[in-house]
Amino acid sequence: MNLFDSLQQQDGQWPDVIRQLLPRTHAVDRDALRIWFGLWPLPWHALAQNPASRPQFEKFYQVNGAYRLLDQVDTSHEFLYGHRYWAVVKAAIGTARGGTDLRETVEAVAQASQAPAEFSLAMAAIGLMTLRQTGWDGWESPANAEAAKAVTNRVTARGHPADQVLRSRASDFAPSLGERLRGKRSTPRVICEEQTADGWFPLIPSQHITTAAELDKRPHHLRDPRCYEGMGIIPVDCRSGACGTCWVGVLGGQEKLSEITPFERQRMDYFGYFDAPGLDTESSRPLLRLACQAQAFGSVSIVIPPWNAVWGRSRRERAGEDATITL
Ligand code: FES
Repeated sequence: MNLFDSLQQQDGQWPDVIRQLLPRTHAVDRDALRIWFGLWPLPWHALAQNPASRPQFEKFYQVNGAYRLLDQVDTSHEFLYGHRYWAVVKAAIGTARGGTDLRETVEAVAQASQAPAEFSLAMAAIGLMTLRQTGWDGWESPANAEAAKAVTNRVTARGHPADQVLRSRASDFAPSLGERLRGKRSTPRVICEEQTADGWFPLIPSQHITTAAELDKRPHHLRDPRCYEGMGIIPVDCRSGACGTCWVGVLGGQEKLSEITPFERQRMDYFGYFDAPGLDTESSRPLLRLACQAQAFGSVSIVIPPWNAVWGRSRRERAGEDATITL
């Protein structure tokens, strides 16, 4: 059977497959795998893939940013350590056959890639879900390949071993000897792009993450148009839990964040960000948070999603019931 056709029939198998892959995945990518599936849930894809009117759809669901995998086939997973094996995993998917058991397909792709299983299994699952959402038509695109090259150029920690990346995750900034001699001290920080040398901003413990981000005045708006000039790398529109723009994945240091409050949990539900399999949404410190509501009491590592929307159940029900909303 054609691989894409078989994937179309296996949506219900994903939660179990993700659960089974976690213990076989290197610790550096375990939470990253769950976060990736949290950023690209199938219910969102079902909603966004083919609206009758895209401008109306984006307006009604308050969509901002790059919200389709179709435009990010080669880059959406750059925050995983296993991203470095994407080329071989992608090639293996290109020659894989479909079957009835999703877990077996994931394993066959990982094995055919010849990359270490502790990384390739997660990347195979991500690649297959990407194909599920893009189809073969979107699988290869010159624009995506260009974007992937830009990621490769930006990454400076490509050769670091996984254990080293894991150790430095959610770590304080440690100055070099020369910097220490010039009076620099180690400082808590928020790491937002862990494979680049300067992908972090300083943190004063107990700050909300967006408050810390705002003190970083680099021109992040040039890379992400959702950011306001001089207001940091995390897009924000309200800082009060009202808009959902500031959602982030917490890659490391979850325990150093304040517990999620009933208000933040209710807002995450409303925005739709808890509508994904494999997420620990009942946890007191879940993997997806609102950066304007979460206080950090020490260094953390985060992932900033490239899109935001308000698409929770109540919005979907309203779109379904209200005949005046033609999506
Ligand atoms: S900035 Fe609006 S919810 Fe955080």
